[in-house]
Amino acid sequence: MATDGHIELHLPQDLLIGGGTSDDLSDHVARVGIARPLVVSDRFLLDEGPAGPLVERLSSAGLAVGVFGDVQPDPTVANVNGALDALRAHEADGVVAIGGGSPMDTAKAAAAASTNDRDLRDFAGYHQVPNPGLPLIAVPTTAGTGSEVTRVAVITDTERDVKMMMLDGHLLARVAISDYKLTMSTPPALTSWVGVDSLTHAIEAYVSKKASVLTDMLALKAARLIGAHMRRAVQHPDDEEAREAMMLGATLAGAAFSNASVALVHGMSRPIGAHFHLAHGLSNALLLPTVTRFSVDGAPGRYATIAREMGLATAEEADGVATARLVDELEALNADLEIPSLSAAGVERDHFDRVVEDMAQAALDSGSPGFNPQPATKDEIVALYRQAY
Ligand SMILES: NC(=O)c1ccc[n+]([C@@H]2O[C@H](COP(=O)([O-])OP(=O)(O)OC[C@H]3O[C@@H](n4cnc5c(N)ncnc54)[C@H](O)[C@@H]3O)[C@@H](O)[C@H]2O)c1
Ligand SMILES: [Fe+2]
Repeated sequence: MATDGHIELHLPQDLLIGGGTSDDLSDHVARVGIARPLVVSDRFLLDEGPAGPLVERLSSAGLAVGVFGDVQPDPTVANVNGALDALRAHEADGVVAIGGGSPMDTAKAAAAASTNDRDLRDFAGYHQVPNPGLPLIAVPTTAGTGSEVTRVAVITDTERDVKMMMLDGHLLARVAISDYKLTMSTPPALTSWVGVDSLTHAIEAYVSKKASVLTDMLALKAARLIGAHMRRAVQHPDDEEAREAMMLGATLAGAAFSNASVALVHGMSRPIGAHFHLAHGLSNALLLPTVTRFSVDGAPGRYATIAREMGLATAEEADGVATARLVDELEALNADLEIPSLSAAGVERDHFDRVVEDMAQAALDSGSPGFNPQPATKDEIVALYRQAY
């Protein structure tokens, strides 16, 4: 519960969920008054993925469409500046983001930068975007980040090796379209990484010090859906029911964490991404069991509720039993999904030793660990990184 007892919930004004909802994309673009949309996506999705056909539909609906596809995974300041230039060149009056978290975050940051005359780095942190940006329609193609419904954008500053977390209501999409059909083509490794990202959002939102009754409902439902369908979606990519549940879970988990915050796992995972360029979901996944084991004593009842929601323990079983099962299940899930340790993921010992103190400091500086139910010192964070190595 938020300590002051107040409850806030910030979400996109319109949220459309379900198979086929993206078929009506051009209607929504026109409906919110966008005539010259800039589509922000990535090269693969435009050439071989679901973004190409969506761009064609927008054009055939008579809209003057511009396209920016120069977004890399874990997008950089340069990617955002590229999108901003494209926005200006096209004289766009709105943005359509089609992709995983990387195109969506690039689009959000560029839409905000277009109406705020300040350095992108000044957006980092909490509530640092003074003016509303251009209207944004977000269409995810991964069941993962939940960025379509979050107030968050994560942009890497390659000069300082920092993954900047920006949270502001002005980074919310005007319309979010969560259509699981667009995720059917994600390959197994990507499906598992982005799926564990969603599960981490659900768990961290539920145990966060800023959790509220509204975020609890979203987070628990997300944990239940993801827990029950994760392995199915990875092992059977064509299983529409599993894909639908994962996409819904990702969107609900995004809505939960955007309002309740993430915590220690995400705080620790961003510096790994910044230094070693591991995918966001992967760096969360390889921390999740270790950090959960460390954190359960801070909120045993809350972690036990998640375990029960995921079907790992009954109401009659003690909290201690339930939390132990949760940690076991997170370890088993990583084993089944073949999530490596940091060393097995290719992080070299020398490099790791050189930056581990800085990573712990960056984790603390991001603010996210402050919402963890179990407080962590810098030394404890260093020790957790070493356990995950
Ligand atoms: N804004 C937020 O609230 C939030 C939350 C969590 C993570 N993030 C950020 O999101 C980024 C990660 O996003 P992501 O995990 O969704 O991946 P991504 O957007 O980086 O995409 C990863 C790869 O998957 C491919 N891909 C995407 N959709 C596909 C599809 N349908 N079929 C086949 N391939 C597909 C892309 O082309 C790309 O090569 C990170 O930068 C992370 O920090 C943001
Ligand atoms: Fe995440």
